Amino acid sequence: MRYQDYVIKDGKFIGEFEKMYQKFDDPWLQTKEAGISYSRANTVCSIRRFGAKNILEVGCGLGYFTAYLNEQCPSSRIIGMDISETAIEKARKKFPKVEFICGDLAKLDNSALEQYDCIIFSEIMWYILDNIDDILLKIKKISPGGV
Ligand SMILES: C[S@@+](CC[C@H](N)C(=O)[O-])C[C@H]1O[C@@H](n2cnc3c(N)ncnc32)[C@H](O)[C@@H]1O
Repeated sequence: MRYQDYVIKDGKFIGEFEKMYQKFDDPWLQTKEAGISYSRANTVCSIRRFGAKNILEVGCGLGYFTAYLNEQCPSSRIIGMDISETAIEKARKKFPKVEFICGDLAKLDNSALEQYDCIIFSEIMWYILDNIDDILLKIKKISPGGV
């Protein structure tokens, strides 16, 4: 099986991310892509420009982009979150100075979200489509700057 088979099976989203991270070391070639795209450089510029201080990066996977953001934006507190405990364990091991938590974005309540003034979605939209309306509404409610 390929890592993609743990995400979509017979054309249907199954989202078995934990099983996938237990079997595969580098799904989506995350170790090779941190910080190299225009959108990622643009994220750094936006954090600096708007002065965001408490940031949650959802779907952080192995933590490479979270670590890159921490390095580039030292005046912000940037926490990575992923639904897979195995991914978070690997991220903590690789980047011991960076904060990571395990959690499902779809299950975060307002009080959890309210701690952050910026929430970053990096390569995760496809996987939360079933709950996207609820998620965006929740973020909109607690976000003075909007979504
Ligand atoms: C394509 S990977 C992106 C990893 C990393 N952000 C990157 O850009 O390299 C998508 C990640 O989203 C995580 N994920 C999927 N659904 C999630 C959810 N509901 N809450 C938190 N993380 C989720 C998966 O475990 C996976 O690590």
